[in-house]
Formats: sequence, C-alpha cells, structure tokens
Amino acid sequence: MANPDLYAVFGHPIRHSQSPTIHRLFADQTGQVLEYVARDVPAENFEASLRDYVASGGRGLNCTIPLKELAYGVADETSARATHCGAVNTLVLRKDGSLFGDNTDGIGLVRDLQQNLGIPLHNLDILLLGAGGAGRGILGPILACRPGQVFVANRTATRALDLVRQFDRQGKLAGGALEQLGGRCFDLVINATAASLTNDLPVLQDDILKPGGFCYDLAYASQPTAFVRWGKMHGASVSVDGIGMLVEQAAEAFRLWRGVLPETASVIDHLNQARSG
Ligand code: ATR
Repeated sequence: MANPDLYAVFGHPIRHSQSPTIHRLFADQTGQVLEYVARDVPAENFEASLRDYVASGGRGLNCTIPLKELAYGVADETSARATHCGAVNTLVLRKDGSLFGDNTDGIGLVRDLQQNLGIPLHNLDILLLGAGGAGRGILGPILACRPGQVFVANRTATRALDLVRQFDRQGKLAGGALEQLGGRCFDLVINATAASLTNDLPVLQDDILKPGGFCYDLAYASQPTAFVRWGKMHGASVSVDGIGMLVEQAAEAFRLWRGVLPETASVIDHLNQARSG
C-alpha cells in the first residue's frame, strides 16, 4: 500500500492541539489515506522546520499561534481573504513546489455561527472584543455577511481604530476602547482577546448584551471559559466556545487539500463528548 500523504500543524505551544484528532476523523469519514501530525515549532524555527517538512514530502500545513503571520510571509500566492488579514492558517504545497496560503478561520467561525448554531449574522449588531491577530482574521468574513453594525472594542483603543481603518470599506464598522461603549448593547458579542488563554476576562460592562443575545468565545478549553460563563450569567440564549469554529476551519483546510468537504457535526459531537466525559 502507498504511504499516506503527510499533513501537519505547526504551532507553539501545540501539546493540546485537537487538530490531529479532527483530521483523523475527517480522513476516516471520507476514505482519504493521510497522516496528520502536530509539531511544536517556535517562531524562530519556523522556516527551517518548514524546509524539513517540505523535504520529507509534506502536502499541506496548518499554522497556529504564533506562526500565522510568518506563514503569510512564506506563501508564494495567497487567497484574497488571507491577503486582507495578512495571516495564513493553511498552506497547500503544490506539485510545482510553490506554496499557496489561505486563511480558513473566518469562514470557520461564520459556518459555526450560521449553520451549526442557527445564528444568521445579517443585520445583527455585533461587538468584537479584541483587535489582535485573531480579531483581524475573522473580521472580513463577518462583514461579508452584512451585519447591522460591528463595533471593535479593545483594551488599547488605537489598535481597535487601526483595525477599523483597515476594514471600514467592507461594512459598517466602528471601534474604540473597551470602557467607551457608553450604553450600547449588542445581539452578538465575540471574544477575540487572548484573555481566555489565561482563563481571564476582558473588563465588560454588565449591560452590553441584549436580552437573549449570543456570546461566542474564539478560544476553547476543557472547561467553559470565563467569557462563556460571563455570557451565561448575563442572559445569553447561546454562550459557547470556539470548538465548532476549530472543526469548521479544519474542514475548509481539508477541502483545500483533498477536494472534499467533510461532515462536521459528528466531529464536533465527538470532541464535546470527549471533554465532558
Ligand atoms: P492574537 O493573535 O491571539 O489575537 P495578539 O495579536 O497578541 O494575539 O492580540 C491579543 C488581543 O487580546 C489584543 O486585542 C489584546 O488587547 P491589547 O491590544 O490591549 O493588548 C487582548 N487582550 C489580551 N489579554 C487581555 C485582557 N486580559 N483583557 C482584555 N484584552 C486582552
């Protein structure tokens, strides 16, 4: 039997990555023969690790924190959505040796919200917390759904305003400091800050979420994050972490590599059961 095609995720830290499990389930489901491994690659080793990986026959690569901007830098060609946010989470190693870079994070979030959770984004007023790489990666695909308004709130106001300037031709967008929300309230609050990584919470006023609104944390953990708990305590009808987005962005990467879009609901169920059990 031929050797399985090789895929990988590079990141640092990478120990708790769910991506090998997700891609194994996708491969089983679609009958594709492939191997997917996680490698701990700090930023300073990225280019050397990528060279070794290409030499060992790698066919595609996912890049996560802190490598997405570096992955953008090494790609020979990038998709429009990756170009716009300056970050790549999926590299396709083409037969001619060139690297194509895409960013499937935003489409992953939109599919989880709209298709899995039944939250149509059109006309919703959305608060995006955080103006770092994670926020930049999802803003374009969110604005493409024509929400009512998106307000970017960040601890450091200037970074929010920079993001607004970068994307304001794509939709109705405003931004400012976290504490400058001034009585505004929103249908959907998305947490794209790095606070969840330390089980911390951005400083949030109590009344920013409309009654029955939705809270979504891009981060995920074995236990509900501080932000997911905040949403539940503040009247959200849905308050979830980013496990669904993780599976959806992986499905889109799998489609780019293998030409088939896997079914995701059973994979999300599998991961949810594994962490509740
Ligand atoms: P990432 O690529 O994960 O987005 P990043 O580019 O370093 O990482 O951005 C981290 C984001 O989380 C920023 O918006 C940061 O706010 P600042 O720009 O003010 O630094 C935000 N952040 C991190 N910890 C936070 C905390 N405890 N409370 C509020 N915001 C926080």
